[in-house]
Amino acid sequence: MASHFRTGQARRTATLLFFFLCLISISYAARLPASRQKFEVQKHLNRLNKPAVKTIKSPDGDIIDCVHISHQPAFDHPFLKDHKIQMRPNYHPEGLYDESKVSAKPEERSKPITQLWHLNGRCPEGTIPIRRTKEDDVLRASSVKRYGKKKHRTIPQPRSADPDLINESGHQHAIAYVEGDKYYGAKATINVWEPKIQQPNEFSLSQLWILGGSFGEDLNSIEAGWQVSPDLYGDNNTRLFTYWTSDAYQATGCYNLLCSGFIQINSEIAMGASISPVSAFRNSQYDISILVWKDPKEGNWWMQFGNDYVLGYWPSFLFSYLADSASMIEWGGEVVNSEPDGQHTSTQMGSGHFPEEGFGKSSYFRNIQIVDASNNLKVPKGIGTFTEQSNCYDVQTGSNGDWGHYFYYGGPGKSPNCP
Ligand SMILES: *[C@@H]1O[C@H](CO)[C@@H](O)[C@H](O)[C@H]1NC(C)=O
Ligand SMILES: *[C@@H]1O[C@H](CO)[C@@H](O)[C@H](O)[C@H]1NC(C)=O
Repeated sequence: MASHFRTGQARRTATLLFFFLCLISISYAARLPASRQKFEVQKHLNRLNKPAVKTIKSPDGDIIDCVHISHQPAFDHPFLKDHKIQMRPNYHPEGLYDESKVSAKPEERSKPITQLWHLNGRCPEGTIPIRRTKEDDVLRASSVKRYGKKKHRTIPQPRSADPDLINESGHQHAIAYVEGDKYYGAKATINVWEPKIQQPNEFSLSQLWILGGSFGEDLNSIEAGWQVSPDLYGDNNTRLFTYWTSDAYQATGCYNLLCSGFIQINSEIAMGASISPVSAFRNSQYDISILVWKDPKEGNWWMQFGNDYVLGYWPSFLFSYLADSASMIEWGGEVVNSEPDGQHTSTQMGSGHFPEEGFGKSSYFRNIQIVDASNNLKVPKGIGTFTEQSNCYDVQTGSNGDWGHYFYYGGPGKSPNCP
């Protein structure tokens, strides 16, 4: 009886011990990939965050590193090892400052804009400001490799053969566009707002697209504008951004300076940093000017922000089609509709108000222009518009003496008309 008892107890102890060992090995197995992931994240952060000459803490929580110009991420690219930085473009497009000679009506005058981090300091000459990537930023991405890259092909395709495909990705657009010619740049002055985002995995942006090639696997794109993207930045602030890809968002390209490609020369503007202030409904309006153009001599694609800041360039060799010229230009808004609860998202585009409401209420692009083969800024000919669901987000074009070609765009997303 006693021995029976002991055997039973021993069996129970052995069983317990077995479960205990299992538990240990399970938790060990679970920890191993976690520590490997931490290692991968750290390695990626070390690659992205270059040693800083000076560091500035922005009121929004961002850390801006002033990095020596020749230590920026671009120079990790094998093709850029011996690259001689171009400190200025050979040419600006002709006619660049013509529009500022026209004085806007007082009620349609907008104010200049800066970046929030300027409140706490500036970067010295010879450095460029880079928004530091934090561990949390990378951990919010689906993988270390996908951090800083777009998830899907998101180009609005005004004349897609298969309209169902357009809707499938859940991205919605309200854009104006031109195609059918060779384009060497584009410009726009974009009204800046802070649209509400319903789900952290959604975003709202307003930008221009410079596109080369057809909409296949080798699509080339250069993009610039403002965006609110909780996933990418960890908050709801409106930020200046750029994007590029030479293979339809697959292996190449990224936002801002999150991969090697764009070469920045400017010490005052940080890609991905918050824009401040932003426009308020029936109140002060703020807008930013963005110009992207191809240097006719070297072939690089340059970007200028406002009248004063030449930010830098995408070297021509990054691209296939865009190494020659662009075949399409698009301007407008894009949101992700993840259909939370099976209904349309309430994520706003632009100001969250429809074009009909006009200045001070609806968001706009004004003085939209293209750069032609003779390096002249011109009004775009044959502008088309496109939206997947105009009952959710819409676009309306117009033209006048002050604003040249312009359009209002955007909307509230979910509403009784957009269920
Ligand atoms: C962003 O806005 C959403 C609602 O629009 C809110 O739920 C969320 O807490 C905000 N996120 C941050 C980091 O402020
Ligand atoms: C997208 O889907 C919506 C809702 O199903 C539909 O009303 C709209 O016409 C579609 N748009 C396109 C361009 O197919």
